[in-house]
Amino acid sequence: MDLPPTPTGAIRHLWQTDYTMVYRSLPLIRLHARRQLAMWGWPGDQQDAVLIISELVTNAINYGRVVDALVAVRLAYLGSGGLLVDVSDAVGAFPDFANLVRGDMLQEGGRGLWLARRLGAELCWFLRDGGGKTVRAHLPGIAPEPGTSPRPLPLA
Ligand SMILES: Nc1ncnc2c1ncn2[C@@H]1O[C@H](COP(=O)(O)OP(=O)(O)OP(=O)(O)O)[C@@H](O)[C@H]1O
Ligand SMILES: [Mg+2]
Repeated sequence: MDLPPTPTGAIRHLWQTDYTMVYRSLPLIRLHARRQLAMWGWPGDQQDAVLIISELVTNAINYGRVVDALVAVRLAYLGSGGLLVDVSDAVGAFPDFANLVRGDMLQEGGRGLWLARRLGAELCWFLRDGGGKTVRAHLPGIAPEPGTSPRPLPLA
């Protein structure tokens, strides 16, 4: 198991919500995440970030679901300009993570983790206090210039 990467600098903004672990939650999570990143004016690529969130939540529903458990989505806008995406599910294991996360586009199987890495995310997972695990994507991002206005997210 990898240790979570140490965030650089302080956390500027933090947001977390729990959702029912069903596919129907996905559009709502994407909407909430887009709105949150836009409200913060997070200076990285907000659409890429939402795509990564969507892949990690889909994985949590597919591989980390336990009856009545919730999926927790937590975004932290770091002082470095980066973004931490934490998606927590109810299963306290991620078999073969190191190999899966190193996979390339020619391998058989899924593309979600590959896509997240391709979009610049560093991935790790760790056990949660109280059970389950968190899969974390760290997007390094770009420090915002002082005085610059937030980049709005175009409507899809
Ligand atoms: N939250 C998780 N808990 C346990 N195992 C996971 C979790 N997320 C991913 N995995 C494992 O990692 C593999 C690769 O995930 P990835 O998202 O790259 O592909 P996929 O989900 O299989 O397919 P795709 O995302 O392309 O639909 C999964 O097949 C699963 O075995
Ligand atoms: Mg997947």
